[in-house]
Amino acid sequence: MLKSASPPAESVPPPAPQRGTLLVCDDEDGPRLSLRVVFKDDYNVLLASEGREAIELAQKNKIDVAVLDIRMGGMSGIEVLERLKFIDPHIEVVMMTAFETADTMRQALRLRACDYINKPFDLGSMRTAVANAMHRRSLAGEIQNSSEQLNQLLIELQNQKVEEQISRTRSDIYASIIHDINSPLAVISGYIQLMNERIGAANQLELADLQYIKENLKTITRQVTNCIGISRRYLGFLRRQTDATSVIGVNQLLNDLGELIRVHPSVQSNQFACQPLTQDVTVGINSTDLIQILLNLCTNAFQATPQPHHVTVSGQVLDAPLAPAQIQDGPSDRWLNVEGFDNHVPLLALSVQDTGPGIPLEILPKIFESYFTTKSARHGTGLGLSIVQRLVKSGRGLLHCHTEPGVGTTFTIYLPTLPKQ
Ligand SMILES: Nc1ncnc2c1ncn2[C@@H]1O[C@H](COP(=O)(O)OP(=O)(O)OP(=O)(O)O)[C@@H](O)[C@H]1O
Ligand SMILES: [Mg+2]
Repeated sequence: MLKSASPPAESVPPPAPQRGTLLVCDDEDGPRLSLRVVFKDDYNVLLASEGREAIELAQKNKIDVAVLDIRMGGMSGIEVLERLKFIDPHIEVVMMTAFETADTMRQALRLRACDYINKPFDLGSMRTAVANAMHRRSLAGEIQNSSEQLNQLLIELQNQKVEEQISRTRSDIYASIIHDINSPLAVISGYIQLMNERIGAANQLELADLQYIKENLKTITRQVTNCIGISRRYLGFLRRQTDATSVIGVNQLLNDLGELIRVHPSVQSNQFACQPLTQDVTVGINSTDLIQILLNLCTNAFQATPQPHHVTVSGQVLDAPLAPAQIQDGPSDRWLNVEGFDNHVPLLALSVQDTGPGIPLEILPKIFESYFTTKSARHGTGLGLSIVQRLVKSGRGLLHCHTEPGVGTTFTIYLPTLPKQ
């Protein structure tokens, strides 16, 4: 016969501080009633004289421990055990056995009975078995409680992280607005300077001067509108809105870029050329965004070195998609937004190429990080390329940087074009 798995009577754990509920199910009156007498002072005791009644009690009450006779008329103890575990898998079950085979006992243990007591039982072993089972049950409850608390904590941490991310995004966006508005402001100040030079010393204005002022004021107004567009775009992003895409031809845009660069302070004595496309196309990206991308890349190209050098903007329309083997980072190549790129033809490829000193290869992997700069605080915030990257991504484009130290750098953006109207 199998021996009880319970430890000796003297190691009985103290009853749990909260009264547990004990269910006793036995079709013999004697053991059932005597168990009530034994445990009524320590636990709430519920009695059932058959399996069905035990199951009903378990459905209506939170049972901590059940003591089940294996051999009963009607439903067997094994069946009741299985049903109880189905109602609440955390109920601890002690089986009472008389002449059961090892197979039946194995089955009971497989169904996660926690202990078994030989019948007729001695009170010491029964007390120990029930107390151990109650202890296990309260430990399981504590573990469940702690894991719920841990989950709660994780959710709170996650929320906090999201909050932090939102406020970080917020400050990034404010910094981006200031960064991007600087360009049109520089252009405005360039035009004002030009007008000042022309009319500053004059006592009287000729008709041609007035015409000149009118033309320049038009451009200034466009730049002011640009500033408003930039702040709207970013603030709209904060409110999770997306701007309606304003579609214009790429050649018109390259023409505007040439005008802006002409008066941009970073041009200085550098040579600038902006070549129109042989075949004009329209792209899905917002036109203010595309101008911002090109202005940022051109500004970087002009600032690559104080030595006079060439900066060229050119473009072409590609009739074949880019091959995956082509889009590979290397020591002198960096590709961004490979995952989000809409690689459908026809594609527009726009390049900003300079004959500056190139980018030192050891810093190439860092240049797209926000606030990474090799310039002095007065000349750079390190935001330009991270803004370019974000705008290219929002237009489902691809950004490529190829640099050759001593030869120069080329940034190319690939954008999906819109079908012809
Ligand atoms: N055409 C280029 N030639 C050489 N170095 C470049 C070129 N473009 C970018 N870089 C390098 O990448 C760095 C990061 O450029 P990014 O535009 O993000 O910031 P920044 O130009 O330093 O500052 P900001 O754009 O805020 O004025 C630059 O500081 C520079 O070292
Ligand atoms: Mg820059």
